[in-house]
Amino acid sequence: MRVITTIREMVAERSSCASFQKVGFVPTMGFLHEGHLSLVHQAREENDILTSSIFVNPAQFGPHEDLASYPRDLPRDLSLLENLGVDIVFVPVADEIYPPDFVTYVDPTGPLVYEAEGAIRHGHFRGVATVVLKLFQIMQPHNAYFGQKDAQQAAIISHMISDFNLPVKLHILSTIREVDGLAMSSRNAYLNKKERAAATVLYKALQAGRLQFEAHFDADASLAVRAMIDIVETESLARLDYADVRDPDSFVQLKALHAPALLLIAAKVGPARLIDNFLLRADGSWDIGILANI
Ligand code: PAJ
Repeated sequence: MRVITTIREMVAERSSCASFQKVGFVPTMGFLHEGHLSLVHQAREENDILTSSIFVNPAQFGPHEDLASYPRDLPRDLSLLENLGVDIVFVPVADEIYPPDFVTYVDPTGPLVYEAEGAIRHGHFRGVATVVLKLFQIMQPHNAYFGQKDAQQAAIISHMISDFNLPVKLHILSTIREVDGLAMSSRNAYLNKKERAAATVLYKALQAGRLQFEAHFDADASLAVRAMIDIVETESLARLDYADVRDPDSFVQLKALHAPALLLIAAKVGPARLIDNFLLRADGSWDIGILANI
């Protein structure tokens, strides 16, 4: 596995790939877990050359967020990626991506960026879209792999690809969960034992919301929202940011319980801000993620 830190070298390496070779790309911020690795695993199967990146992107963190304390373990990440057969990993420093004369940002608009996560994390998706476009330019992947866990991010990237006619095929893969349902996240490392147990409340709330869909198809969406809120309120260590039912593509709030839909939840548990979702696809099937180790 080649570990590359400069754009110049990365571009040279990429241009040495033969034109018939399919290049896959898994962007990450590191501190890898089974969720990231599931993307790498699938990408390995579908591409000739597999690339990944590890970059904790300052532009997507707000001034009071956890940029400085974001967990990092580069040696472990590199050995995990190498074991899964990654060919090239791009690990730039911040100045490489954002040199002092950097001025151009990608600024998505509409409910997709101003609501749900966007309403709380101002500027977050501008930072995500900017870095992902820049990484796509550098890595030139045919296939790019993202997690459904970050549903709003995945929808924004999907729109960016179509808005800018980027020659990248987007693959959005199911959320990988711990055995008790907690969605894997690098930020789970912030939880102590009690908070870790409390954090399963997000998954339980989503299950309660889903039951409302199954019991009352086409009924008022507030039934599912209420069911999710009621569950979160049973957990004293959790503070709800939002529980929502939204269209998975536009992120407009849904008035009625019908497919396609996203059940979304965000809450703080101790020092960690956690997000999760269940997807009800247009064909009526659910993607609630995959429990690990079973
Ligand atoms: P990061 O949080 O490291 O996540 C990298 C990728 O892993 C994202 O596509 C994310 O959705 C996916 N992922 C995270 N947890 C997952 C889980 N439990 N199951 C499946 N996939 C999971 O998302 C980012 O980094 C950044 O915003 C990035 C896209 C790299 C841009 O900076």
